Amino acid sequence: MANVILTGDRPTGRLHLGHYVGSLRRRVELQNSSKYDKIFIMIADAQALTDNADNPEKVRSNILEVALDYLACGIDPEKTHILIQSQIPELCELTFYYMNLVTVSRLQRNPTVKTEIKMRNFEANIPVGFFTYPISQAADITLFKATEVPVGEDQAPMLEQTVEIVRRFNRIYGETLVEPKISLSSNAVCCRLPGTDGKAKMSKSLGNCIYLSDEAETVAAKVKEMYTDPGHIRLSDPGKVEGNVVFTFLDAFCKDEDFAKFLPDYANLDELKDHYRRGGLGDVKIKKFLTAVLEQELAPIRERRKELQKDIPYVFEVLKRGTAAARETGMRTMEEVRRAMRINYFDDISSLY
Ligand code: TRP
Repeated sequence: MANVILTGDRPTGRLHLGHYVGSLRRRVELQNSSKYDKIFIMIADAQALTDNADNPEKVRSNILEVALDYLACGIDPEKTHILIQSQIPELCELTFYYMNLVTVSRLQRNPTVKTEIKMRNFEANIPVGFFTYPISQAADITLFKATEVPVGEDQAPMLEQTVEIVRRFNRIYGETLVEPKISLSSNAVCCRLPGTDGKAKMSKSLGNCIYLSDEAETVAAKVKEMYTDPGHIRLSDPGKVEGNVVFTFLDAFCKDEDFAKFLPDYANLDELKDHYRRGGLGDVKIKKFLTAVLEQELAPIRERRKELQKDIPYVFEVLKRGTAAARETGMRTMEEVRRAMRINYFDDISSLY
């Protein structure tokens, strides 16, 4: 069986470090591993509309932002098809049939949807499209016969539901669809990067993000404001490393080599943490180090993004070509699905008997 990756993001804003360590960095590694026969990355504009129906401009304008973020991070259009979800009508068709394989109570139990409904105060009037987006996401994944889906941990319930749909479909209509697996970052910190304010998760709606497109000065200023240990007042005070955002970010970003480059008094992160715990190590120093570590990773991304921004027609072509290639794959799967369901009436007169 072919190894196929499908993944995606909702274009509701520019991508931030949570997206980057949670899955984007890994997607680029997987892309470059040469282990995959096909790779698709989807800009999920139709899904973004399920809770932004009254603000389509926000979704439209962020398609380009997300595409720029992808390309700047190293998603290579020679290896990966970047596609726009709404331009693949087969996704709607597949979703429509999947809707018959999922119960309302099963959707109500989906923990990600539950949390999102609370966050958006949708309790009393949930748009049907939003409520059912896990079904449409199952179509996203299976239309491309994805075997692996590199996403953040919050997407695990979507994959579970997808697998259930695949099994149910294959049982009823015969072996047609492929069961996907989630592919998570091996570093636990990366699965749930906190915001700069120490709140549970980096998220645009909480205003605690560092964006991939932030200028160097902005990144430095955001690190300066980062939540550390409120009990660590004087330099000599012992400090806490757990829940200290600077250390969490270092866990996600820094490598041993970075100490030789930027902070040669310490061999590695464990030594730095020990000193902080003992006392005598100030926040200014650890924040400067983190800024240097981040800048090393973000500077090339920022530069590439600026270059790409000068050539929007190139990005347009990438999206158009990626979407066309994806559609071809999608059309083929959809033919198999119709055949399996025996609704391919006009292929052959006998299917009407
Ligand atoms: N739900 C994903 C998110 O909020 C976006 C998404 C849409 C997606 N379709 C997908 C992710 C298919 C993986 C596979 O980020």
